[in-house]
Amino acid sequence: MNTKTLLDKKFEIFIPADRIKARIKQIAAQINVDYRDERPVFLGILNGSFMFAADLFKEIHLDAEITFLKLSSYEGMSTTGKVKQLIGLNSSSVSGRHVLIIEDIVDTGGTLVDILDQIEASGPQSVKTISLLYKPQACKKDVPLDYIGFEIPDRFVLGYGLDYDGYGRNSKDIYILAEE
Ligand code: XMP
Ligand code: MG
Repeated sequence: MNTKTLLDKKFEIFIPADRIKARIKQIAAQINVDYRDERPVFLGILNGSFMFAADLFKEIHLDAEITFLKLSSYEGMSTTGKVKQLIGLNSSSVSGRHVLIIEDIVDTGGTLVDILDQIEASGPQSVKTISLLYKPQACKKDVPLDYIGFEIPDRFVLGYGLDYDGYGRNSKDIYILAEE
């Protein structure tokens, strides 16, 4: 299916499932090397990263842990500008650990900066960030991104965990909002 309509919007196929899968294998291979003697803890940011986090974690061959944190929800097609609070952060699971944050997408960068501030406050040994998607033209913050899946244009995307008002997460491919 090359196009789909969701609620009031038309979307076109953008990154097919096989490309996502191949890129995840490359990222995981790099992490497996970078952390070869370590026992890192991965923190998946819900809801958007659940599918990416699961597929990535299956390719990690380290003695690693994974846990999930949730942020205040994202509505509609632009960020609200409010500081998003991390729910479920247990400082004992982060303190003194090598932490890898798993995000679905970095847009303006505000969310990841808020997450990093809150994680740093729990005293990790190190923190690195992984994002499946990154919109360099939209990013207004100096976000340290260590592992990036795909750089994409400043247009709304969905699928593979990412949603438009709650819908569209259950797609194996990533779609982009069609230009009018
Ligand atoms: P910021 O702007 O803080 O945004 O980097 C990050 C969060 O905003 C959501 N977001 C999107 N969700 N398609 C989506 O489905 C998009 O194109 C998009 N852009 C931003 C997402 O929740 C992300 O974590
Ligand atoms: Mg999200």
